[in-house]
Amino acid sequence: MTLLDVKNLDKRYASGGRTVTALDGVSLTLSAGETLGLAGASGSGKSTLARVLTRLVPADAGTVRFGGEDWLALSGGELRRRRSRMQMVFQDVLGAFNPRATVGSVIEDPLRIHDIVPKAERGREVAALLDRVGLPAAYAARSIRDVSGGQRQRIAIARAIASRPAMIVLDEAVSALDVSLREKVLELLVALQEERGIAYLFVSHDLAVLAAVSHRIAIMDAGRIVESGPAVEVIGNPQSSAARALVGAVPRLIGQEDRNAV
Ligand SMILES: Nc1ncnc2c1ncn2[C@@H]1O[C@H](COP(=O)(O)OP(=O)(O)O)[C@@H](O)[C@H]1O
Ligand SMILES: [Mg+2]
Repeated sequence: MTLLDVKNLDKRYASGGRTVTALDGVSLTLSAGETLGLAGASGSGKSTLARVLTRLVPADAGTVRFGGEDWLALSGGELRRRRSRMQMVFQDVLGAFNPRATVGSVIEDPLRIHDIVPKAERGREVAALLDRVGLPAAYAARSIRDVSGGQRQRIAIARAIASRPAMIVLDEAVSALDVSLREKVLELLVALQEERGIAYLFVSHDLAVLAAVSHRIAIMDAGRIVESGPAVEVIGNPQSSAARALVGAVPRLIGQEDRNAV
């Protein structure tokens, strides 16, 4: 079932008297429970696409249907309510938070805002979410600045799944983590997807990360999607120069596992 259907998105930024075309006719689809990996060199427009889809910046043109609705037409209270369905995890999503916020309040916010569980059950739900991402319930009382980078990404994931979304946009969500932590967080994300049927748009400049989690991969270059297909095909037989450059940067990709294989 198609969850997300993006057609011909354009986005330009005015910057220092000139215009930067960040998205140039981007189209893609994502099915329920599927992971689309989005790769591309720095500046190719990946984060802009993530921000347009999560309604953090407006598009100049194009359409987005999400869960059967005209997603870009939603506004006000309607948009606030529907945001529960599409969540996001950024490279340092919690860097934007009040450093004095507690871990518990960060995870509880979406439960309250979207009225996911009755007030009396929120503490228990926060504990269950912490447990699900592999952290002790006692972490709820900690200050967000007193947890490590890896723990912080787990907390960001707990926050993202708290509102029971159909889709999560992850923008370089594991890029700041060292390799062993990164693998654990990727395993957690794959397990959560299998449990809950969440679709991921997984943005990374690193094809090795995408190879581990993606069903399909799309390659961006200068604001356009220049190639897309099953992950093994794009990685095993890249057609565009942009894809070949990314594959060439990660020689250990050869022999990767195929998430589509049974
Ligand atoms: N707020 C902004 N103002 C002006 N230009 C921007 C802004 N955000 C991104 N850009 C430009 O848009 C292009 C795409 O950037 P971005 O979406 O961040 O790419 P990526 O995430 O693939 O590195 C780049 O040329 C970048 O400099
Ligand atoms: Mg980016």
